[in-house]
Amino acid sequence: MSLLDKFAAQRALQASLAQTGGVAPIATPMDDVDSATSGTIGGRRMILAGTNNYLGLTYNAACRAAAIEAIEAQGTGTTGSRMASGNYAGHRALEQALAEAVGWPSCIVFSTGYQTNLGVISALAGTGDYLMVDADSHASIHDGCKLSNATTIRFRHNDPENLDRRLARLGDEAHRALIVVEGIYSTLGDPAPLREIVDIKKRHGAWLLVDEAHSFGVYGPRGLGLCEELGLLDDVDFIVGTFSKSLGGVGGFCVGRHSELELLRFVSRPYIFTASSSPPSIASTREALRQVLDGHGLRAHLWRHAKRLYAEGKRLGFRMGTDTPAPIAALVFDDRTRARALWQALLDTGVYTNLMIPPATPSGVSLVRISLSAAHSDEDVTHIVSALEQARHTVFGLG
Ligand SMILES: Cc1ncc(COP(=O)(O)O)c(C=O)c1O
Repeated sequence: MSLLDKFAAQRALQASLAQTGGVAPIATPMDDVDSATSGTIGGRRMILAGTNNYLGLTYNAACRAAAIEAIEAQGTGTTGSRMASGNYAGHRALEQALAEAVGWPSCIVFSTGYQTNLGVISALAGTGDYLMVDADSHASIHDGCKLSNATTIRFRHNDPENLDRRLARLGDEAHRALIVVEGIYSTLGDPAPLREIVDIKKRHGAWLLVDEAHSFGVYGPRGLGLCEELGLLDDVDFIVGTFSKSLGGVGGFCVGRHSELELLRFVSRPYIFTASSSPPSIASTREALRQVLDGHGLRAHLWRHAKRLYAEGKRLGFRMGTDTPAPIAALVFDDRTRARALWQALLDTGVYTNLMIPPATPSGVSLVRISLSAAHSDEDVTHIVSALEQARHTVFGLG
């Protein structure tokens, strides 16, 4: 066995996915993107229904103007870490705006959402501490656990009783445990049972971090996420978020009710040993945050689309990934071939979605994940629904 032999299985998998030729279903090359919801793939115009652009802010006029102004004033990049020359007033102003929005004393901005989880989880929980992590968490959460010296204990996905039992086994040590969950989970779009988790956390004297990557901008009266939606902001210790979804940029943040979070700036390696976010990204995100906080209209539009697509998906007989509508509509399959065929059929009718297959999915299922945006028009959603209807005939032979 030599160094590169380990890639043989991956090569075979990629070849099998590409066997029908045409556009690659994984890491699909975009020829061009020209709005929050449209682009060209394989030479054909597409409705983009596989992005995380929930509020459509990537093309918002004020966000674009802010980014352009920042490039003109401060250049394209900082070329330095927050610990050195990359700590601009804009980064600090964005941290202050996020902390004020949540009403907590501290916020740290990282260069990506991935690095936020890496940097926060690995620094908060060290030797002798415990990380209680939902088994279906995003890779950045699992990788944050790997980077930490804490003991990681996984509990069954969205299973508060399982979490409760595992914390009970720790006894008094539970005071050293950080529970990590997502607001809504990125593959299926299902929400965490946050009320039950908060009860358990309090009973055991543990700590709670909620990653609102997919729920920030989407849930809550001011768009702060599922914690705000459920009135639980007083019961959570840390909220993580990303700029790369509703906020339409690149970067990530952690807001903390405990001022000790500030000290992570001196110990968190994924914060220290990387360049800070670029001026245009920070500037557009500051503007996007203003729009999120003031974004009832955008959220109402998004939810109207989400409810409609969910109802239509059910009507057409698809197995949906959630019990209630969500901006992520995951169509679930036990076998990869059918998911691949549906993905292709949708692409052939001008709708780009995400194909997700194991090991990137929970419980070995395969998914076609459709994500909606406030920037989709009613006609876009009509097109997506009729593409699904047509695909259902061609792929499954259903009447
Ligand atoms: C739950 C969750 N956390 C963190 C991230 C990482 O965010 P980013 O893409 O901004 O690095 C993602 C991205 O998909 C995510 O789904």
